[in-house]
Amino acid sequence: MAGVSDSMEFGPRVVALTGAGISAESGVPTFRGPDGLWGRYRPEELATPEAFARDPVRVWEWYAWRREVIARAQPNPAHRALVEMEAALPGFVLITQNVDGLHQQAGSRRVVELHGNLWRVRCVQEDRAWEDRRVPLPEIPPRCPTCGALLRPDVVWFGEPIPSEAWQLAVQAAQEANLFLVIGTSGIVEPAASLPRLARACGARIIEFNLEDTPLTPLADEVWRGPVGETLPRWWARFQT
Ligand code: OAD
Repeated sequence: MAGVSDSMEFGPRVVALTGAGISAESGVPTFRGPDGLWGRYRPEELATPEAFARDPVRVWEWYAWRREVIARAQPNPAHRALVEMEAALPGFVLITQNVDGLHQQAGSRRVVELHGNLWRVRCVQEDRAWEDRRVPLPEIPPRCPTCGALLRPDVVWFGEPIPSEAWQLAVQAAQEANLFLVIGTSGIVEPAASLPRLARACGARIIEFNLEDTPLTPLADEVWRGPVGETLPRWWARFQT
């Protein structure tokens, strides 16, 4: 991925941070809220290194189910608005907490993935990761074709650090932003939630797109309430005029 600042000479530096809410209208369940995954499942049983060490089959069954759901999902107008921003705005940076790959499927090319990607697997022995889009997986838990060790989803679990390159790019983008869009995230999970605060402290204007208030709402200079598949394209159309 190119450095963040090398193409930012002209125009407003727009940075977007997305969360599960942007994929909700594509049929991908969010984590929190009335139908959220964390209402039905316990994160500590499914999304921690300890859970994987204890019961890799259970963890993989959950990820296999999510891969099936996401394989059927299509990007929505909010994902597409972000593709247009990347094409139109030099220096635009898209940071996502999502692991579903829908931004890339829509056509976004420069995506900073804070929490990894569920379409990649990683060998726990060799610490090597690669794309694996097979649905269903031939065996659960899947094993490394080279060494036979367990594979894990190449995602960030609770208690694990964000990959350092992704985090550095995200911090730099937040520091350099003039306009920071906070899209469909509950703003609860750190360190991702600190990015809009950093952007704000460095002088960016903050715009929040969400169905409801979040802990980040007080930071926002402008708030767009409603489904992001409608609000983001509307905001983008207005921004360009
Ligand atoms: P959450 O599920 O916590 O929050 C989703 C947010 O999207 C909520 O604030 C909703 O109000 C909003 N929302 C839902 N549908 C929407 C729609 N159609 N239009 C606009 N807003 C909508 O998801 P995240 O904030 O992404 O981490 O969660 C952050 C992290 O917590 C995830 O990356 C994941 C999770 O545990 C890990 O797995 C490490």
